[in-house]
Amino acid sequence: MKTSTRDAPVTFDLEGAACRYGGVRALSATTLTIGRGERVALLGPSGSGKTTLLRLCNATVHADCGTVRLLGSDTASLSPGQLQAIRSRIATIPQHLGLVPNLRVWQNIAAGRVGKRGLLGNLRDLLLLPRAEMAEIHSLLERVGIEEKLFARTCELSGGQQQRVAVARALFQKPEAILADEPVSSVDPARAASLVELLAGIAGEHGLTLVMSLHNLDLARATFPRLIGLRGGRIHFDQSPDELSIASLEELYHLGENEILEGGG
Ligand SMILES: Nc1ncnc2c1ncn2[C@@H]1O[C@H](COP(=O)(O)OP(=O)(O)O)[C@@H](O)[C@H]1O
Ligand SMILES: [Mg+2]
Repeated sequence: MKTSTRDAPVTFDLEGAACRYGGVRALSATTLTIGRGERVALLGPSGSGKTTLLRLCNATVHADCGTVRLLGSDTASLSPGQLQAIRSRIATIPQHLGLVPNLRVWQNIAAGRVGKRGLLGNLRDLLLLPRAEMAEIHSLLERVGIEEKLFARTCELSGGQQQRVAVARALFQKPEAILADEPVSSVDPARAASLVELLAGIAGEHGLTLVMSLHNLDLARATFPRLIGLRGGRIHFDQSPDELSIASLEELYHLGENEILEGGG
């Protein structure tokens, strides 16, 4: 087994990794390396395997063949405890955010460390958080621009504000990598751009690896140095925005050129 270190130069390393759900082949044998600090956008139509690829990268699903190495460790050789430790170093912002609507904003953010200190420690913190951690949450909320919402009930926030809470929760986990599954699918283009730029900016500042699936092509091309297109569970392209041709995008979505240029999202 490769040892896992905080300085693993490669965050995600898949070698011939494939995944199926029952009889459905969601991801064909995939070989892919994402280095520490890389910022990658996953593109592709619905059902192309984006969520499945993200799930392999946080070990919430397992490959039925091939190898998945996360932060230097082969997931197949890890005990449940070791796997949990690796997962706690990789924050995930799920498509539907995974916030508890009736909890206060600070409580949802405090839940970000659940993998690091166990459920009981976490439940205690949801009632009474140490002062230093509350200050940390406040400064994370400042970073995402909604510090006045610290004590608000989460369900009273707008969709865009809730997305910012989900970003703050991911950061509170002090992760080495962030996986974000269509985090901006339900807000208007201006808010989507502002949140994607915020996440990419924070990842850049802290040297975090960021892998985000998104549908907005213009935003992906403008923000991410590496674009991976999935189609039918296979990698269709893996290129920089400069290298990526309209023809490749057209093939990815089976769209006409005009639709790509006009649609963007
Ligand atoms: N839990 C599941 N059970 C059965 N099939 C699934 C499940 N999740 C995804 N799939 C199938 O796997 C394929 C890839 O899905 P997914 O990874 O969710 O793609 P995307 O995120 O690009 O929409 C699709 O054919 C989808 O229907
Ligand atoms: Mg998906």
